[in-house]
Amino acid sequence: MLVAQEGERTGACTSAGCPGSRKRRLMLDSVHLEPLARCAWGWLRSRGLSLSLGVCAGACLLLHYCSVSQTKPWRKLKTMVHCNPFVVSLKKSYPWVQLAGHAGNFQAGDYGKLLKKYCECEQQCLLKLMEDSLRPFVPGYYGVVQRDGQDYNLMDDLLADFDSPSIMDCKMGSRTYLEEELVKAQERPRLRKDMYEKMVAVDPEAPTAEEHAQQAVLKPRYMQWRETLSSTATLGFRIEGIKKADGTCNTNFKKTKHREQVMQALEDFVEGNTKVLKSYLQRLQELRTVLEQSEFFRTHEVVGSSLLFVHDRTEQARVWMIDFGKTVPLPPPLVLDHRTPWVEGNREDGYLWGLDNLIEIMSAMMPAA
Ligand SMILES: Nc1ncnc2c1ncn2[C@@H]1O[C@H](COP(=O)(O)OP(=O)(O)O)[C@@H](O)[C@H]1O
Ligand SMILES: [Mg+2]
Repeated sequence: MLVAQEGERTGACTSAGCPGSRKRRLMLDSVHLEPLARCAWGWLRSRGLSLSLGVCAGACLLLHYCSVSQTKPWRKLKTMVHCNPFVVSLKKSYPWVQLAGHAGNFQAGDYGKLLKKYCECEQQCLLKLMEDSLRPFVPGYYGVVQRDGQDYNLMDDLLADFDSPSIMDCKMGSRTYLEEELVKAQERPRLRKDMYEKMVAVDPEAPTAEEHAQQAVLKPRYMQWRETLSSTATLGFRIEGIKKADGTCNTNFKKTKHREQVMQALEDFVEGNTKVLKSYLQRLQELRTVLEQSEFFRTHEVVGSSLLFVHDRTEQARVWMIDFGKTVPLPPPLVLDHRTPWVEGNREDGYLWGLDNLIEIMSAMMPAA
């Protein structure tokens, strides 16, 4: 039985200036786990349940609905299953999938709408994006709504028009922390034993001799090292999660770093469907053109934002920009080209460089004409 308890939990975008998110905690009380949902800890809730992320909080949450529910997509109540140990029930008139990000951040809205836990930074971006040339590439935004005392940003559910969709979340940019986060970490340089241990667990060779001797690393060093594990630093984007129409899902891309590995993951995602691949490519090329002209894009540091790829068996394939919890305005007259390599202080995020690489890789996957 899941018992939800009101508590305190830091919200998704605290570092980007969205303080005061209500914190919640979920206690699991005698959990009986079916093999299907070996996934205990639940994502939770639609109007009522909440969840505790504890340690694994933001990382790789991947929810996908039961294959059962996929065959009849417009049923009233759907069970959602998380690849990690999470089981979720979400009252919604069709199935919904959360591929990555923070558990407990989303609730079902009215048909075709989604509630995402309020973040002021994201709200400001979405408001501006509704007036920008990027409008067709982001979910429609409808303002702030309250549910059970919690504020939410109300937006379009991008899965609403798809039938048993395959979904991929690609986090864009050559770094996934804001400059202000790095500066903060540098202002109070403390040696972190926990970060050293995480580093050694991934790669015992990663710490320097000095770090080994101290059994600790500085946070800025850890933040920068972490980006080198995936393709974030080498390609300017990384795959966060893939969920396919057959219900299989994978969020284990933390060490998917090289072009060939990324290409293989993309090939698996599109399952050799050239029409889908072509549609994705077209959409990405259109997006690039619009980004290059967008006033919003020129004047914001875009960090931690994802491209959400969605296609289904009808071969409909679309891409949208999501997650603006760490997208912050630049102090005028500073503007970015999003391709210049980042050096501390220039605020460049490598978004367009990453998009160039993604387009190049997908183009190389197209069969020769
Ligand atoms: N507008 C949307 N429509 C459909 N799915 C969405 C939408 N926004 C987010 N998602 C799903 O939720 C996941 C996490 O979203 P995101 O906005 O990145 O949350 P977080 O701020 O917790 O990282 C995405 O990977 C995607 O699967
Ligand atoms: Mg996200």
